[in-house]
Amino acid sequence: MEIINRRARMSSLTRKLRRENKTIGFVPTMGALHAGHLSLVEEARQMCDIVIVSIFVNPAQFNEPKDLEKYPRDLTADAALLSEYQIDYIYAPETSEIYGEGFSTYVYVENLTETLEGASRPGHFRGVATVITILFNTMRPDYAFFGQKDAQQVAVIKRLTRDLGFDTEIVVGRTIREESGLAMSSRNTHLSAEERSKASIIYQALRRAKIAAKEGERNAVRLAEIVREKIESESFAQLDYVAVVDGETLEPVEKIGENAVLIAVAVRFGNVRLIDNTILNRQP
Ligand code: PAF
Repeated sequence: MEIINRRARMSSLTRKLRRENKTIGFVPTMGALHAGHLSLVEEARQMCDIVIVSIFVNPAQFNEPKDLEKYPRDLTADAALLSEYQIDYIYAPETSEIYGEGFSTYVYVENLTETLEGASRPGHFRGVATVITILFNTMRPDYAFFGQKDAQQVAVIKRLTRDLGFDTEIVVGRTIREESGLAMSSRNTHLSAEERSKASIIYQALRRAKIAAKEGERNAVRLAEIVREKIESESFAQLDYVAVVDGETLEPVEKIGENAVLIAVAVRFGNVRLIDNTILNRQP
């Protein structure tokens, strides 16, 4: 496993790998790796000849300078973890390698980025779309791996991949959960022990809606209400939103039909904002 810091080196290396007909799998991360990332790495390892994991805390996707400042950074620990997964390269560029002097070109994905997380984190998806475009351009991966927990991010990246003509297949890994059901996230470390155990209410609420949908409930308002009631029964939890939307367009739906429908939530526990979702009409 080699750690690469320079964009030019990453780019020439992947060019060479493509000439050798190696399939390149790419797992973009901001470090602070947890089991969710590692399951994507395992999937990439199984599918691809070469696995590259990027570790880059992307300033362009943070709305609050304080959040960027306190984002956990420990390249040594992340590299030690990744060395157990037989990956080939870590790409860990400095900010100046990604955003050079005078940087002024951003990627904005319309519509999909204005709702849900986009509504409460203005500019967040512009930052994500921009960095992913730069990283895809540098490596031209055959496959790129993202977690279903960030369902809106997945929808945005699938859209930009199609719209900008990247020859990269987006692979979506299932949400990995703690034993309590809480979705794995680097934010979980900011929860107190009590908040962390109470936060399992989010999964319980989503499960209730999923079971109701399986038993025949088709009305989106009613399904959202099931989630709202459960989450509001927990005094530690402050519900930000619950939305029932089309899995691809993220447009609100009224009735559950044939297309994948997502129920997505954002919930605050103290200062920590957690998101989660489940697909109502698909397994798992
Ligand atoms: O999901 C993340 O960790 C980030 O949004 C990503 C995809 C690595 C882009 O910075």
